[in-house]
Parts: sequence; structure tokens; C-alpha cells
Amino acid sequence: MFLRNHWYVAALSAELETKPLSRQILGEHIAIYRTESGEAVALTDQCPHRGYPLSLGTVVGERLVCGYHGFTFDCSGTCVAVPGQDRIPGRADVRRYVLVEQGLWVWVWMGRGEPDVSLLPATPWLVDTLHWSAIGGVAKIDAGFEFLVDNLLDLSHETFLHNGSIGTPEVATTPIEVEVDDEDDVVRVYRHMNSVDCPPFYSRTTGLEGKVDRWQDIEYFPPGFYLLHARIAPVGQPPLPDGNDDHAFHMKIFYGLTPSAEGKVYDFWALARDFCVGDDDIDRFLEKMQVSVVQEDVDALNILQARANESVEMSEVSVKIDRGGLAARRVLAAMGETALRE
Ligand code: FES
Ligand SMILES: [Fe+2]
Repeated sequence: MFLRNHWYVAALSAELETKPLSRQILGEHIAIYRTESGEAVALTDQCPHRGYPLSLGTVVGERLVCGYHGFTFDCSGTCVAVPGQDRIPGRADVRRYVLVEQGLWVWVWMGRGEPDVSLLPATPWLVDTLHWSAIGGVAKIDAGFEFLVDNLLDLSHETFLHNGSIGTPEVATTPIEVEVDDEDDVVRVYRHMNSVDCPPFYSRTTGLEGKVDRWQDIEYFPPGFYLLHARIAPVGQPPLPDGNDDHAFHMKIFYGLTPSAEGKVYDFWALARDFCVGDDDIDRFLEKMQVSVVQEDVDALNILQARANESVEMSEVSVKIDRGGLAARRVLAAMGETALRE
């Protein structure tokens, strides 16, 4: 069951062109594109005439023309022209999905009815390009959403799966603290590693060498938004009592977890940093590293899903490192029950 009354990342802003993109989100096929004036539009990716995907159509001005027989739709999904006649059938409209562009990401409201804007995650670091440089990408995983939640909530896997880029021994050995905000449905996982080796991901970009303090503070806003506050600082220099932390390097690591269909999930990612702002070389270095880190996760999750598909009885042994993931499962289950009652 999918949780529908939420915002999910639907696309990277850079992906949207007048040539439509086809995405399946929560099992629904959606055509996403820009009109010639630049407006981002998402419509049901199925023509009401004979069902051809509208994502195979063509944008003409502010309209999308079906690539099969030319039914034509405006930005609201209203059918405004059909070939060979003036009268437009009443049932020829398609659903328009509400989109919001925020920095690198385009969010879609998957609920029915009016979108709840208060639920839209805040990502100011992706918008404030004066103080933060951001890059982003997306990977498609042939594994269920729940595998990605588990993966992101337990970063001890960095030590083993991402050894050599972001994983060092201390990620797995440093205990975590977990907090659940039941009021707002947020899961927080803290891991503060002090006086540890700086992995290449950060040493090359911050210039810090040898030992550093490295903090990983996760905030998971179920179902679809995850934010990791990474802090890299010289050893023994925590934030000042007034909150000033200018002596540290900060990276915000975002994931948009967007279920595609049963057993498939989109893994949108973005990195925003408050150092080397505007440095294209650092952008390229981080992108290369992150793409390979994400691919390591994709490969692992694809394998887990393939095993799960073999319908061999699987049992799990959970330990302390799993407390974040287990908390996330509990919150998601409670949200699912609430959704069923609504
Ligand atoms: S299927 Fe789209 S116009 Fe015929
Ligand atoms: Fe990972």
C-alpha cells in the first residue's frame, strides 16, 4: 500500500524539458514536461482516447499533443482539441498533478484533492545558491521502498558497502542515538564520531587531513524525504555556545524516496555544501563519488529484492544499529493504519 497524501520528489528540475518525461509514481504513470514558456506540468500519462502514453506526445506552445491521433491538452489537463470535429467529449480530460519546484527538485502532490502545502518539505539549502552549492541526481532501484528506508536509516553499512569513499571503520563502531518525534512523525538518528580518519569524500573537498570530528545527524520525514546533516570539523571544535559553527564544514545530503511501483523505487539524491561554493571541480568530484556510492546501494538493494522474490522464508536478526530503521518502520506502519482509516 502506498501513502498517497504526501509530497514526493518527481524529477530533477534539470530533467524537465519540452520533451516529456515518463515517470511511474505510486503505481501511477505520469507525463512531466515544461511548456514552451517554462511552466512545469504533470499530467496522467495516458491519453483518454485510446490510451497512448501522453509522454510520447509533443509540446506545442503551452499544450501537449498526443502522439497517436492528436488529442490536445492544456496545462490543467483539459482536452482542448480533438481531430476531425469541433465538439470535445466531456470525459476527455486528464488529471493534472500539482508540482512545486524547489531548487534542484520538483515535488509532486500524490494525494487526491487540494495539496497540503504545509506538508511540503523545506529545502532552503537547495535554493540559497549564494551560500550553498548543490548537485543532484536520481537512480532507479528494482527493490521495494522499504529496502531503501532501511538502507538510509542505518549508515553503518557505509563501512562495508562504501569502503574507500565515505566508509571508515568508525561509522560502524560508533553508537547511535535515535529519537522519534511522534507528534510530527520524524525519526532522528545521531552518530557523532570524534577524532576519526577523514574519508576521501571529505578530505579532498574540505582540505582537512588526518583526524577530524565527523557528525552524521539524520532526519527522516516519512515517507519520502530524508535529510542527513553532515558536519566535518577540526578535532575538538564543537559549535560555539551561541550556535556559531563557522569553523566547520557542512554538507546536507538529501534523499527523495519515491515509490515507483510494487518492488521499485526512485532514489533521488542531492548534496548541498557550504564550502567551495561555486567550485565546478568540487561539483564534479562529489558527483562522481556520489554516483558511485549510490550505485553501490542500488546494486545491494537489487540483490536483496531478488532474494526476497525467491520466496524463501527470510528472517531478520535486528541489533542496535537497526534502531533507526526499526523506528522508521513503526512510524510508516502507523501512518499506513491512519491512511486506511481516512
Ligand atoms: S490515443 Fe491519444 S489521440 Fe488517440
Ligand atoms: Fe549507502
